[in-house]
Amino acid sequence: MPEVLSGPAHAKVNLVLEVLGKREDGYHDIDTILQEIELADRVSIEPAAEWRIEVTGPRAAGTPADESNLALKAAMLLAERVNSSFPCLIRLEKHIPAAGGLGGGASDAAAALGLLASAWPSTRIGEIVEVAEAIGSDEAFFLHGGTARARGRGEQINQLQPLPAHDVVLFVPPQTIERKTARMFAELGKHEFDVGRVAERFAAHPPAVFGSADVFNAFERVAFDLFPWLAELWQDLEQRIGEPVRLAGAGPCLFWIGPSGEGSRIAAACTGAACEVIATHTTSRK
Ligand code: C5P
Repeated sequence: MPEVLSGPAHAKVNLVLEVLGKREDGYHDIDTILQEIELADRVSIEPAAEWRIEVTGPRAAGTPADESNLALKAAMLLAERVNSSFPCLIRLEKHIPAAGGLGGGASDAAAALGLLASAWPSTRIGEIVEVAEAIGSDEAFFLHGGTARARGRGEQINQLQPLPAHDVVLFVPPQTIERKTARMFAELGKHEFDVGRVAERFAAHPPAVFGSADVFNAFERVAFDLFPWLAELWQDLEQRIGEPVRLAGAGPCLFWIGPSGEGSRIAAACTGAACEVIATHTTSRK
């Protein structure tokens, strides 16, 4: 292994997120369209005396720097699978807000697996995929990125043709909640589930142009039940922009998506709102 291996771990937004029903294993079947965005953490791996993780960067808050960290868990599980006895130090430079619905933790884990696979060339792709799925539901998407449809509990990936370049503006509220994803899924069970037609339509006819008004996210039905403080911010942002903003994944981050070149105007209109504003754009891997 070279001294240090490093690479980006991009965030995602869900352009469509339908929740189809609860399964016997406690998870929910979903049908979602995921889009990778340029905002990224930086993941580095280097040989060390024992497995360790360090978390730094402007948005380090909320990311665990212990064995509960998804990147460390994934790396240690892969090492066990491939019988590697070479522990590593994983460094995460965090730019993706934690627990916001942007997939940061899952993306860090997928990036760590990719880096280790290049350090350990005998690693089989099947082993990477198995470890990714064992760690969480969003990890499989981040092995490929771009634009994809995910089904099952999120691990069944169909790569779609990349959405043409769009600007994305993220709105990061100052608070989130513990065990957010599990609680958001549980809350959805009080309502009717979705039928899966919106993701189906997107996959059959991938749009060339996509805007916030086209987003579908089942979690918006329960967002204010778990994040009552989000309503005021949401309304303020929409008034400033004059267009809808939408919930990112299981929240509580909100986002706007629209034509390239318009993001800076949208971000400027939201200066002074009660959240952090991050202007970014869609991306895909070559
Ligand atoms: O897969 P991940 O660990 O990210 O999921 C966190 C929690 O969210 C799960 O423990 C489960 O309660 C819930 N979940 C679900 N259905 C999914 C994905 C997650 O119920 N498809």
